[in-house]
Amino acid sequence: MNAGEGVQRDHEILRATLDAAEAALAQGREAWSALREACATLLKRLEGHVQREAEVVASCREQLRAAGVDAARLEHDDEYRYLRAINRLFMAEPECAFAGIQPALAVLVANLRRRMEEQETILFPLMKRHPGAAARSAPLELTPTMTVNRVLRQYPSTHATLERLVDLSYEAYDPLDEVAWRHGMDCEALLAMLGQAICSNDR
Ligand SMILES: [Fe+2]
Repeated sequence: MNAGEGVQRDHEILRATLDAAEAALAQGREAWSALREACATLLKRLEGHVQREAEVVASCREQLRAAGVDAARLEHDDEYRYLRAINRLFMAEPECAFAGIQPALAVLVANLRRRMEEQETILFPLMKRHPGAAARSAPLELTPTMTVNRVLRQYPSTHATLERLVDLSYEAYDPLDEVAWRHGMDCEALLAMLGQAICSNDR
């Protein structure tokens, strides 16, 4: 199974997990434990999928750009952030939390299904046509508006540098220019450090 087939397989597994979450949701509060378990599993699987998919997308970035496809618009970032928030709601008592979880999870399920369909229609055909493209052969793409998470997914070798400079627990979804400003750094200097980390890893 190549990387493109792997992310397609991820989608099938995610859909099965969404089915389980919806089934638990339909049973109401009695299925609280099953619902909590399904949401935790979904978060874990989505997290792994996001990493794998970003690597595949990065490997054919040039082809996507040439086709006019904005891969960033099709990522799962919003669903992942939303699902994390839903999982935090399970820390409250079921009587209080269920009323909030029920509508939020219904929205998440619909959005995640729609995003996967978009990816399968727009992104995946391109990825399948260019399975051999290598991420490291693509030109370096680092911009001030990229979020910390996006940099980490696209360039895993920046992890040590970012971990040293940034609070990854709270700033993962913030853009680099904002993070630099918050930590009193020059954004250009931050970009240069990250570029160096990527180039060092490529040697
Ligand atoms: Fe996906």
